[in-house]
Parts: sequence; structure tokens; C-alpha cells
Amino acid sequence: MALCITKLIIFSLLCTSAILFTANSHTFSRSLLPEELGLRKEKLSHLHFYFHDIVSGRNPTAVRVAEAQMTNTSTTLFGAVVMIDDPLTEGPEMSSKEVGRAQGIYALASQHDVGLLMVQNYVFTEGKYNGSTLSVLGRNAVFSEVREMPIVGGSRLFRFARGYAQARTHWLDLQTGDAVVEYNVYVFHY
Ligand SMILES: *[C@@H]1O[C@H](CO)[C@@H](O)[C@H](O)[C@H]1NC(C)=O
Ligand SMILES: *[C@@H]1O[C@H](CO)[C@@H](O)[C@H](O)[C@H]1NC(C)=O
Repeated sequence: MALCITKLIIFSLLCTSAILFTANSHTFSRSLLPEELGLRKEKLSHLHFYFHDIVSGRNPTAVRVAEAQMTNTSTTLFGAVVMIDDPLTEGPEMSSKEVGRAQGIYALASQHDVGLLMVQNYVFTEGKYNGSTLSVLGRNAVFSEVREMPIVGGSRLFRFARGYAQARTHWLDLQTGDAVVEYNVYVFHY
């Protein structure tokens, strides 16, 4: 009996989705003018903020979620994967105004230096950029003075975004690994 009911539910779900799909247009692709999406002149914006990577204490914003067996014996921590929800602030102090968060992953991807694979979204919460995001995908050799990472896209005010981010360590506690990093981001968008 239970099996029959389950089958019935699955059957009705399938029917419902079938009806929804057929109600949609069958056009797979078409050309359109940029104006039809409200796109006018491309702009170049410069964003400046501080990124707080807190790995120690009771409220870390960066947590290691995976590692390899050999990570502990690697001088570059090769194989560690860290999930972050790091505050982005206007000034270098944690108490200064939060303008967004950096959410995503960094993974220790180099066997010869401390080189991170950065896969993150900057989720802005301030002013007109509230709710808009930028996506970063790049390499971050953390002990280099300036690290440059591509901005590969964005959402809402940052649709069609492309550009780059430059990171400079502002403060680093070698004991705990906590760090504050200054970011300058340059993006083209509409
Ligand atoms: C690595 O070291 C940490 C701390 O000493 C330990 O908790 C963890 O289990 C170790 N991981 C492996 C894969 O050996
Ligand atoms: C940002 O947007 C959210 C959701 O719309 C809203 O709750 C929040 O108050 C906004 N924040 C600012 C600083 O405008």
C-alpha cells in the first residue's frame, strides 16, 4: 500500500513537471541587442577593502574542511582545503564597516611554495552594491608582496564583470595564521 502511494506521488510529480515544461517556449537560442537587456556603456570600477581571514579562536571565519594524508608532513600544507566566510571591511580594523563577505574555498595547491587556489564569491552588502557579487578564480602565492587574481564574472550590478584583484598582506600573525589582507579590485561591468 505504502509503495502504491509513493508510486502515485512520484507519478503525479512527473505529470506536474511535464505540464510546466510544455508551457515554456521552445526557443533554445536567439540573438538580441545589448539595449534589450538594458546594457548601455561599460564602466570601470575600483573597489578597495580589507579581507579578514580568521583561522584561530572560538569564531573562526576560515575552517579546514579536508586534507590529504601527507598534508601534515608537507612544508607548504599541500592538499588542505579551507572553507571561508571572511568579512570584508572598509578599513583594516575588524570594527570598521563591513561591506561584504568573501565566501568560498581556498585550497593549498602548491608543493613548492604556499600557493592557494582561490575559488570565491565576494558578496557585497553595502550601498548600491548590496546583493551583487563578484567571482574570483586564481592563484594566491601568499608570501609574495602583491598577488593578482582574475575576476571571472559577477551578478546583478556586476553582470558581465571581468577584471582583476590585487592582494597585499596588511597584517599576519605567524603563530595563529590569522591575517588581514588589503584588496584593490578593478572591474569592467555595465
Ligand atoms: C594532522 O594533524 C592534526 C593536528 O596534529 C591532526 O588532528 C590530524 O588528524 C592530522 N591529519 C592527518 C591526516 O594525519
Ligand atoms: C541589503 O539588502 C538586504 C536584503 O534586501 C536588506 O535586508 C539589507 O537591509 C540591505 N542592507 C543595506 C546596508 O542596505
